[in-house]
Amino acid sequence: MAGIWWTGAILSLVEVITRGEAGGMTSDAITVLGLGNLGVAVAQAFLRGGCRTAVWNRSAAKGVALEGSGAVVAGTVQQAVASGGLVVVAVLDHQAAQEVLRGVDVRGRALVNLTSGTPEEARELARWAAENGAEYLHGAVYAVPQTIGTDESAINYSGSAAVHERWRERLALLGRVTYLGTDAGLASGYDVAILSGMYGLIGGFLHAVALARAGGIKAAELTPMLLSWLTDLHPALVTFAEEADRGDYAGGESSLAMNQSGLAMLVRATEAQGVPFAALGSFKALVDEQVAEGRGTESLARVVESLQRPAG
Ligand SMILES: NC(=O)c1ccc[n+]([C@@H]2O[C@H](COP(=O)([O-])OP(=O)(O)OC[C@H]3O[C@@H](n4cnc5c(N)ncnc54)[C@H](OP(=O)(O)O)[C@@H]3O)[C@@H](O)[C@H]2O)c1
Repeated sequence: MAGIWWTGAILSLVEVITRGEAGGMTSDAITVLGLGNLGVAVAQAFLRGGCRTAVWNRSAAKGVALEGSGAVVAGTVQQAVASGGLVVVAVLDHQAAQEVLRGVDVRGRALVNLTSGTPEEARELARWAAENGAEYLHGAVYAVPQTIGTDESAINYSGSAAVHERWRERLALLGRVTYLGTDAGLASGYDVAILSGMYGLIGGFLHAVALARAGGIKAAELTPMLLSWLTDLHPALVTFAEEADRGDYAGGESSLAMNQSGLAMLVRATEAQGVPFAALGSFKALVDEQVAEGRGTESLARVVESLQRPAG
């Protein structure tokens, strides 16, 4: 019996050491720093999943509401960090994340930062974490707070493979987990590109709505037709992506010249209906630039070359 006890004790000790539980930390507990709309949803998802969860927020009142759900409300960032092996940060921006973590002892912690930022900002925090004895995983959230913890939530992560491996099941309580690689900036690299696509789409959509309204068409009537056409357009984006990766725009059925003509018609129609062409003006300028360079017969995808900063 004693042998069994010793074996169990040694195994527990090995587990404690591997998990960095020395010093009385509760390594399987979770800490959420920042209780804005996202942080509250994240903390609630962990609590629903049965995780011991400590929370901290700059304005203390926001934590109180979570006490009823079982959260431990910490008075300081340090107290909150001391009680969780996994520390999730969800504050307004990179600067706020730096302010929250500055001077805090994060040794042995797995930091998961869901705060939006640039790739270099994520790498900067990863370096800071490494210098301070913590591991860093950056997360880019594709969800709204209401969908956190549902099938409609997805989070792309990059950075520490060990953190991803060890906390994957807990992170899955927030939404689908995709791990992109060890570069902490990669998740943000995808994110800023995806957000650019999103804002371009929304800008185009709102221009379409303004144009429809000016023509006496309700936005709700326009939208299903527009969505159907955008869905049919997906293969064209795949083709454009292949052309951009090859840097070869010779083929294709959607030439710059044809699109220049289409955009010129759109300017006439838009202005005739009293709608400024503002949302699409910069795109048209890029098409015009490519055509002026003699590329009119090449694919529309060549516009990306106008956005490429010259090397050097
Ligand atoms: N909400 C979404 O749908 C969504 C989706 C994807 C990604 N995100 C990203 O997630 C992050 C948080 O978004 P959110 O919607 O939760 O924002 P939010 O509701 O505006 O909350 C902002 C949080 O940041 C805290 N904060 C701001 N400045 C601070 C500072 N200097 N020091 C300490 N705390 C500070 C606020 O504390 P106080 O309460 O004290 O003001 C609050 O807890 C953002 O980077 C956002 O881009 C959000």
